[in-house]
Amino acid sequence: MNLEVTVRQATPSDIPKLKEIIDLSFPRFFRFFASHSVNSEEGKVLVSESQGAVVGFAKLIEFKVGGCKYGCVLWLAVHHKHRRKGVASALVKAGTENLKQDSSEAVFASVNRRNVASLRVLGLQGFKRIGLLDLWRLFSWRVFEFYGDIWYSPTEVVLTHD
Ligand SMILES: CC(C)(COP(=O)(O)OP(=O)(O)OC[C@H]1O[C@@H](n2cnc3c(N)ncnc32)[C@H](O)[C@@H]1OP(=O)(O)O)[C@@H](O)C(=O)NCCC(=O)NCCS
Repeated sequence: MNLEVTVRQATPSDIPKLKEIIDLSFPRFFRFFASHSVNSEEGKVLVSESQGAVVGFAKLIEFKVGGCKYGCVLWLAVHHKHRRKGVASALVKAGTENLKQDSSEAVFASVNRRNVASLRVLGLQGFKRIGLLDLWRLFSWRVFEFYGDIWYSPTEVVLTHD
């Protein structure tokens, strides 16, 4: 059964809990980058709260390519005790709405191609895979700038919600 959660913007007092979720959710190599990202002034962090406790977060960023504004769900994690209860889905939905209300033309996410859980969560929230050819049609040679903006790695697939 889905958990009843409220999604809100993170505050500095949430940082220790976010660090705990990061440590429990990501391999060592990625923990440093995820922690740095939630501490960064760039973008925003949404947290999901259940009964007064933070149980997950999404890090969102905005960027411009060729004068157009876009958004990206950069990091997404849920405390392992609260998984499969709709928490990530609620965060992705709220994050996508937030970015679009803030004038993003489209919202992207890039996910390791073997991360079934997050591919599924994003898919259920309306994200679709987009290949290099379609990205090239959208951004032309600026596609490389785009890959840099979303911290793309070749082990990942890009998804979009437009
Ligand atoms: C990916 C992650 C955020 C999903 O969080 P979650 O709150 O459990 O996701 P939801 O409950 O919203 O899942 C919605 C649906 O996605 C699918 N899904 C979620 N986790 C799944 C899994 N491990 N395996 C297969 N399908 C999964 C299911 O269809 C699920 O619906 P159901 O539970 O009714 O079957 C969580 O597993 C996590 O924190 N993983 C580690 C960090 C990570 O990989 N982050 C993504 C890259 S930044």
